[in-house]
Amino acid sequence: MNDKKSKIISIETSCDETAVSIMKFDKSENILNIKTLANIVRSQIDIHKEYGGVFPNLAKREHAKNLPIILKKCLEDASLFKPGNTEIKNTEQINELTKHVEGFTENTLDLLKNMEAPEIDRIVVTSGPGLEPALWVGINFAKVLSLVWNKPLIPANHMEGHILGSLINSEIGQTQSVDLSSLQFPALALLISGGHTELVLIKDWLQYEKIGQTVDDAIGEAFDKVARLLGLEYPGGPKVSMLAKEGKAREDIKLPRPMIDSGNYNFSFSGIKTAVLYLIKKLGELDDQTKKDIAKEFEEAVTEVLVKKTSRAIKEFGVKTLILGGGVSANDFIKKEISAATKNISESIKLLLPDKHISTDNSIMIGLVGIFKEIFEIENPKIENIKADSNWSL
Ligand code: KG4
Ligand code: ZN
Repeated sequence: MNDKKSKIISIETSCDETAVSIMKFDKSENILNIKTLANIVRSQIDIHKEYGGVFPNLAKREHAKNLPIILKKCLEDASLFKPGNTEIKNTEQINELTKHVEGFTENTLDLLKNMEAPEIDRIVVTSGPGLEPALWVGINFAKVLSLVWNKPLIPANHMEGHILGSLINSEIGQTQSVDLSSLQFPALALLISGGHTELVLIKDWLQYEKIGQTVDDAIGEAFDKVARLLGLEYPGGPKVSMLAKEGKAREDIKLPRPMIDSGNYNFSFSGIKTAVLYLIKKLGELDDQTKKDIAKEFEEAVTEVLVKKTSRAIKEFGVKTLILGGGVSANDFIKKEISAATKNISESIKLLLPDKHISTDNSIMIGLVGIFKEIFEIENPKIENIKADSNWSL
């Protein structure tokens, strides 16, 4: 592991957030210093709201529209944007990469022609898992940058991003140091998001083994569907959690704890959503307090399952560090319960929780994947072999 230093642009478009960051890092011995120079996340929530979920083709169009604009703004924020005249040589290739979305070629070329190649060393892009049409837009945009500026392109796994995201907070402009020797292995990551629910065992840096996952819906999906049943807008996770804070325990509001004693590390969250549906039918017209009571019981039910499975994995594998990642890890009740359970097993287990704006989708976590791949000298595929892999598993 030699000393390293570079400046990277990272791009994330796997779902309904278009995000671009510019980060620089240097690593000397075991100390990794990271500084975020620019970071923009543009959420498409308002656009997808009326569909009650993310609509892939709409996401694709929005990403294509946003990417050139956000990239320019990020370069400006990082003081790396210089207007200029660049002769674009690979127009045919660029056209091939961007022709699938209207206006994408023109907007991309317009930006790149009228600026100098910035002083960056590499480009990192999420290439899976996620919505395939959405992933492709980010990948193809990143390929164009890589071709025009002649810089290496690194594919990043979104879930790995959710794991590594817990290592830093995203304060822009401040340098953050990570002591690579201080993280104790084995570590365990509980990844809970709108698309995934996974337990990943980490034996050493970048060595992952998925030990369990959902067999149907992801936990965030369940939060969003229950929110809909309670008449709340997409994405309803945070709203359910707000209601749950004022809920009360009731004998007539009880939900199952799916797969809690299944003896493995898999999860299932589709049945509980159906159970909420039946419960609502049974209760009839819902007053505000009843909605809060249902939200509370739902949050408690899913949290109990997460806590039980995570605790068992901690004991079985002698886990020394627990990492929480994914959008649902913004949930205060889940954080509190996981934290208490971990302490209960052993005071010495370190719990890493992502910063609030690192827990939902962002590109800082994707930049981190690129940084770690560079530090550990992971070989990258050729640019033509970098593809969207909607089911890319760690
Ligand atoms: O990681 P993320 O931003 O996107 C995916 O990769 O899926 O996660 C988004 C999910 C949504 O389902 C959203 O409702 C949920 O995270 N979420 C929450 C909270 N904040 C976000 N769920 C429960 N409680 C929260 N506070
Ligand atoms: Zn995510």
